Amino acid sequence: MSVRKIVTLPHPVLRQKARKVSDFGPELQQLIDDMVETMRSAPGVGLAAPQVGVPWRVIVVEYAEEEDENTSPKLYTLVNPEIARFSNETVTGVEGCLSIPEIAGDVERQEKVTIKGLNRNKQLVKIKADGWLARIFQHEIDHLDGILFTDRAEKVWKLEGETAQVASAD
Ligand code: NI
Repeated sequence: MSVRKIVTLPHPVLRQKARKVSDFGPELQQLIDDMVETMRSAPGVGLAAPQVGVPWRVIVVEYAEEEDENTSPKLYTLVNPEIARFSNETVTGVEGCLSIPEIAGDVERQEKVTIKGLNRNKQLVKIKADGWLARIFQHEIDHLDGILFTDRAEKVWKLEGETAQVASAD
């Protein structure tokens, strides 16, 4: 495993529509291992393949609900993920992105989503998420379509110093 370089704006790969994955061979397995390591080292709670310069539909998410300190973070690896269902209720929250350093913004997202995709063994998985986890999935899946949180943000602002680290979550 190795940590890959996270690409930042204005790298064009961040604006591409990533392509579906059909080969679950060693190249994909290596990519997933490296994405997990890169996300943890950043650190971040999510990462999409285009953020390491690979235009494939792959995301990793690792997040623990903050309410329970004893809950260890759960790792999700999804290939060709899609939002299968979403609630009509929306919620606004502050997002950042490792590919857009030192910028944060208020983004309105669907409060609840059901994500469908394949795991690294090509098995179908379905995940129901709400709150921050739902937000992270929506942010990461947007990356696969070349959409960045700043495109959706009602308001963006610049961060400086330590605050920047905290907010550059995914
Ligand atoms: Ni991001």
